[in-house]
Amino acid sequence: MTEHDCPRPSRRTLLCGAAAAPLAGLALTACGGGDGWPRSPEAETQAVTLGGDAGEVPVGGARIYREDRLLVSQPKKGEFRAFSAVCTHGGCVLSSVRELEAGCGCHGSRFDAASGAVLKTPATVDLPEYPVTVSEGRLIVGPGRREG
Ligand code: FES
Repeated sequence: MTEHDCPRPSRRTLLCGAAAAPLAGLALTACGGGDGWPRSPEAETQAVTLGGDAGEVPVGGARIYREDRLLVSQPKKGEFRAFSAVCTHGGCVLSSVRELEAGCGCHGSRFDAASGAVLKTPATVDLPEYPVTVSEGRLIVGPGRREG
């Protein structure tokens, strides 16, 4: 684990490192942040065009765009949903996806990738959602949050 993998030093950082240490290589991708905690996705304030094309998000599944700190799902064909991939428990970037469920490797929180809802604690706050559109096959997320 490097200083860039976990939030700035705090009790949370210690917990993150402790939780990730047994996972060796997985630990390097388990935690987010680096120059601030928690780092919100750029989509909070500006439109972000994701790399690759929309077809990379499986129908009935989701994908984590780690660099952009975004989680994008496609619950039904052509229906995309985008959420912050910054775990609401401690600021780690979500690290795993299984169908429509995303997980945080730091302390085991799980989120519904179709709604952003917490499925498993310790996180208790749902993931913020952003508007997402498809333009020329590319996913564009944000700016700002999607309410309701
Ligand atoms: S940071 Fe603790 S579960 Fe994600």
